Amino acid sequence: MEIRACVFDAYGTLFDVNSPAQRLAEEIGEAWPAFSQVWRDKQLQYTWLRTLMGAYADFAEITAGALDFAMQAHRLDDDDLRARLLDLYNRIQAYPDAADTLEGLRAAGRKTAILSNGCTAMLQSGVAASGLGDLLDEVISVDGIRVNKPDGRVYELVEQRLGVPPANVLFVSANGWDAHGGAHFGFNVVWLNRLGQPAERLPGSIWREGASLSDVTRFLAEAEG
Ligand code: LAC
Repeated sequence: MEIRACVFDAYGTLFDVNSPAQRLAEEIGEAWPAFSQVWRDKQLQYTWLRTLMGAYADFAEITAGALDFAMQAHRLDDDDLRARLLDLYNRIQAYPDAADTLEGLRAAGRKTAILSNGCTAMLQSGVAASGLGDLLDEVISVDGIRVNKPDGRVYELVEQRLGVPPANVLFVSANGWDAHGGAHFGFNVVWLNRLGQPAERLPGSIWREGASLSDVTRFLAEAEG
C-alpha cells in the first residue's frame, strides 16, 4: 500500500457541521442538537434525492432548504436567526485537529485535498475561515459535474485533479455512507466514526476505523512502519 494522496470529505469530517447551531444554542433552545441533526439529515437526503431525480441544486441552495425544513419542524420562525445560521455555515469551523493532521501529511510528502458535495464558493470560504488554505493541494467540488457522492463520478474527480490513481489514495470520511461509497469505488478508506455508530451495511470494505483526524496519521505510520 503506497499512499500518495490523502483526500478528505469536508462537512462532518474536516468541518464541524454542528458548530453553527451550537454557536446560536441560546436562541435555538436546549433542543439545538436535535435541530442541528434534522438540518444535517435533510441536507444529506436532498443531495442524494436530487442526484436520483436528475434535479441538481448546489449545496448552498440545498443547505438553505434543509434549514427551512428544520426551522419549521422546530417551530422556529425567525428570518434573522435563519440568516445568521447560514452565515455561520459559510464560515464553518474546522475540528481542532484538522490543521495539524493536514500539516503532518504534507510534511510526509503526501498530497492533501478535499472532495466534497459542497459548492466551490462555500468550500473556499470554509477553508479560509478555518485557516486550512495553505494545507490543501486541491479543493474538489461537485460543481462541474452536478451529481453528488456517493455517485462514482464524484470519486473519479480525484484522479482527474490530483493525477493519483484510487489504489494510492487514502480517502477519509466521517460519514459512513461516504466512507463505503469511496471504498466501493476503490479507495483505501478511513472511516472516522466520531459517534461510535454501528457499521453501515453497505458495499465497500473500510480499511481502518478511527475516532478523530489524528488517527489518520497514526494508521499510516503503523501500516508503513
Ligand atoms: C461533503 C458532505 C456531504 O461532501 O459531508 O462534504
